[in-house]
This record gives sequence, C-alpha cells and structure tokens, in this order.
Amino acid sequence: MVYNRREFIAFLGKASIATITIPPFLSGCSSNTKPLKNKLSEEQIKKLKNVVLEALVPSDKDDLLLANGLDYKIVIKWGDRISDKDTFGFNPDFNCFIPLDENNPKDGLLWVNHEYTNPLYVADFNPNDFENPSEHKTKAQVDKEMYSVGGSIVRIKEEQGVWKVVNNDSHNIRITAQTPIAINWDKPIMGKTEIMGTNSNCSGGITPWNTFLTCEENYDNCFGQTIYGENDNTTHIPSLNGWEKFYNNPPEHYGWVVEVNPKSGTAQKHIALGRFAHECCTLYELEDKRVVAYSGDDTKNEHLYKFISSKPGSLKEGTLYVADTVNGKWLALDWENEPVLKNKFKDQTEVLIRAREAAKLLGATPLNRPEDIEIDPITGHIFVSLTNNKPKGDYHGSILKIEETNGKFDALTFKASTYLAGGEENGFSCPDNLAFDLSGNLWMTSDMSGDAMNKENGPYMPFKNNSLFVIPRYGKDAGKVIRVASAPRDAELTGPWFSPDGKTLFLSVQHPGEQTTDKANPTSQWPFDGDNIPKPAVVAITGDLIDKMNYLNLVEGSST
Ligand code: FEO
Ligand code: CA
Ligand code: CA
Repeated sequence: MVYNRREFIAFLGKASIATITIPPFLSGCSSNTKPLKNKLSEEQIKKLKNVVLEALVPSDKDDLLLANGLDYKIVIKWGDRISDKDTFGFNPDFNCFIPLDENNPKDGLLWVNHEYTNPLYVADFNPNDFENPSEHKTKAQVDKEMYSVGGSIVRIKEEQGVWKVVNNDSHNIRITAQTPIAINWDKPIMGKTEIMGTNSNCSGGITPWNTFLTCEENYDNCFGQTIYGENDNTTHIPSLNGWEKFYNNPPEHYGWVVEVNPKSGTAQKHIALGRFAHECCTLYELEDKRVVAYSGDDTKNEHLYKFISSKPGSLKEGTLYVADTVNGKWLALDWENEPVLKNKFKDQTEVLIRAREAAKLLGATPLNRPEDIEIDPITGHIFVSLTNNKPKGDYHGSILKIEETNGKFDALTFKASTYLAGGEENGFSCPDNLAFDLSGNLWMTSDMSGDAMNKENGPYMPFKNNSLFVIPRYGKDAGKVIRVASAPRDAELTGPWFSPDGKTLFLSVQHPGEQTTDKANPTSQWPFDGDNIPKPAVVAITGDLIDKMNYLNLVEGSST
C-alpha cells in the first residue's frame, strides 16, 4: 500500500500537525526510513544509542515517576488563572496542541478536556457526609461543579525548553457545562437547537481542518439517563451529581461528539456521529476529502462505531456504522434502509439519539469497554483499547486490532484480532489512551480504577499505580511493553499528545488523591505545591528518551 503525504499526515493522528520532522514512513510503507537519516548526524545517533530504555518497576509511591532520560514540568494545574475571567478546570483528560503558525511548533493552542469534577475539592461538599449526597447540594455548589468541567483552550509557548501558559491571551477561554452549544443537525434534539454546555469530556480527536473534537462520555453522571420502555414510555434514572435538581436538562442533550474551533472558541455537537458514551473520535481523511470517524462507547458490552461522510469535510452528511467484530462487518444505522430500525424508531434522529438500542437491533458485537482509538501510521491498522469487563471475567483488558479490507478506511468489511492482552505476563492492565510517536512506537496509559488499585490479594496488586507505557517498534525491545511513567496515588495518566516536533509529550495527571474522604488527610499531595491539596494537572515530558524513541528506527535499525 502506498500513501501520499497528505494521507500520511492524516495517519499520524496525535502527532499530526505540521510535523517538522518528516516521519520515516513517508518514504514508503513498512520499510526502513531514509528522510530522517539526513536529519541526524552520526554523532547524534551515537548519543541517542547511549540512551538506555529502562523500564520502571511498578510503584505505589505518591509521585509522578519517570524513566531515566525523561523529565517533566507542570504546564498548568487545576485552579490556575488563564485570564482575568477564568481558571483552569478539574480532571484534565484529552490534550491536543495546534500551533498558531505551522512553521513554529513551540507556540500554539492547547485544548484540554476537563472530564469530571470532585465535589470535595471543587465545591467543598463532602459526599461521604450524606446518604443521598446529591439531595443536599446547593445551587452554588452545583454551579461550581459545572464550571469545573468541559474544556480549556490556553495559548502555550516553549521558551528555553519550558512550556508556559500565555496568561490572558485572547484565545484563552473556558467551555463549561453551562456554555451554550449549537447542534449540527436539521432537527432539534428534545426541542432544542442550542444545548446547555458539554460535560464528561473524556478523550477526543483532531480534524483534518485543525479543530478540536471533545467527546462526552459518562454523561449519565451529570443529568442522568433515559430508559426507554416497551411502548417507548420513558423512565429517568437520576444522576450521581444531581445537577438536574437545578437544571432540568434532558440526558439526550449529552453523549455527543463536540467540535471546538480553536481560534473562535465556538462549539457544535455532531448529532450524525450518534449518542453514546463516546470515549474518543479518531478521524481519517480520504483522498477525496471525505472523512471516516472512529469512536467507541466506553460502557460494558457496548460497541465500536465508525462514521463515513458522504461529502468532503462533513461530520453531518454520511452514514454511521457499528461493528460486528465476529463477522467483520460494519452495519449501517440507517433508518431509511434498515427495516428493523424503521419498525422501532420514528426517524433517523431517534436512531442517533438511541444509537445503542439501534446497534443491538442490527446485531452489533458487545465489547469490553472500547476506550481510545489510534491508527497505526505505518500499517494503517486501527487499534482500540478494550479496557476491561469485570462481570465477564476480563480484568485486564486488551488492545483490539482492526484491519479494514484492502486498507480502505471506508470499507464495510474488516478483520478483527487481539493485538495485545493485558495481564501479568505483559505487565499492564486496563489499557486506555493510545498515541503513536514520530517513528511509530505505541504509547499507552492504563486506567485501573482507584478503588481497586493496590488492594492486597486483588487482581491489580502486581501493577501498583496507573502508568504510562511504550511499546517500541524497532530493536531489541520491539513489541515489549515498557513502563516509562508511574502516576501519583489514585491518579490516572491521560491524554498523551506529542508536540508537532515530537519533542514534548503532553500528559494529564488526572484525579490524584481521588480516594480522599477527609481533606485533612489526603491520599495524595501531588504536585506538592505547599497546601496539602492534590491538584490534577497537565505536564510536559521531555528528554533524551523521547528523542531516542522518535528516531528509534535510525538508532536501533531494522523495522519489525
Ligand atoms: Fe473516561 Fe473511558 O475513560
Ligand atoms: Ca479514557
Ligand atoms: Ca478509563
């Protein structure tokens, strides 16, 4: 399979913007690289050869530990001021950096998802004090929680090797659970064409036209869930947060993919991509500029979807499909042409709102919680983290590999197989976020839940704290899962994103100290900035080891 440059740039996904270093796979698929060779001197190669990739041992230490050859600095943390008006939100997840000028990879706009809140820290409300906590929250407390989620755009610049926020830059804005957001659809959703806010923003993606995608995952925690009964009578399941006590927003307003324009800060919800617990949205641009969008529903026994647009650059015109991974088929959620859907739902809008039910009617395969999705920049295979499914006995998850027929992203058939299984043998459990670096090594974070981690005799004990791993593509460690960062206590490392020159890995440290029930005795004090309060933050990781990994094909030789 031969790719043109544009396709390869699309392939690069999270390292995709105006890559300064021509990626090795540009010169030809799966073969060794030539373009990079001209960019490194023999001396530089020798220096990188001396950088040793040495795995961290599992640790339960309350700190962000990094392998030798890596260093980190905090870019921004919860509560930091981004402008006179706004502060940085809570629990960062997905990061995406877009340079303002594609010739300068060191100055641009960082989008950060703020996935969920913690009432203890954000609203000074301790849920442990009450049997039914949400009944006791005040509107002021709910407003604080709603402000703490959504996303942030911050302009950041790298100066003398340090990434700093440009405070008060005109691009710096917050999108919150109360920001009005339009829908990209011709019919209203539950009577509205403009929706109050976005929430549960877990992972996301980037479009070929350089906008951010942020995905609404566990929206049922915010405004509850609608259960549709036999004759389409509905029942409202209350939310964990209890926001509906003050804001009577229907659950149908959430569970969408939201696109944010970095320059203007305006947002829109893409109804055509379906409504479910969207973990992420990973786009591929076809030669004719139509797009293919992959997205998983991170809920037990839910599904993997892909949208294929029928018009260039559209996330509205096209067809949403769901995966039958047993038979390798993409099944169309198409009301007009699928009698089984026509019998059940009144129109395509209802199919999209109730995508999970529609998927089941078509025979979609239940999966073990699909999380992040990335496209291998060298093979074009699609990797999907299946994090776990405990009731089915899958405690450690796996990475699913999808090979589209003939390598065509708009194919309607594919082959599915397991690329890598979690567990003690491979040294990781509960895969979540994925990212490829500039030479095609796969980086992966883990997400063992805070209440299960480090429990004596529990299934997760051997793995200790959540971590970041790299799976090298070349050399003696090719295919091995190597732990390169260990998170502070209770935390999860999320949102890995490489800067355009590949030299910085942005990473979120989400929910350190989450198991805290008494503020006077926090389970974590990371980042140790003097006030005893754990603070979720985004860090910038740099160092010789990242440089080595980006040139691993040159340094270590042959491809696997
Ligand atoms: Fe928010 Fe599925 O992780
Ligand atoms: Ca996740
Ligand atoms: Ca997760």
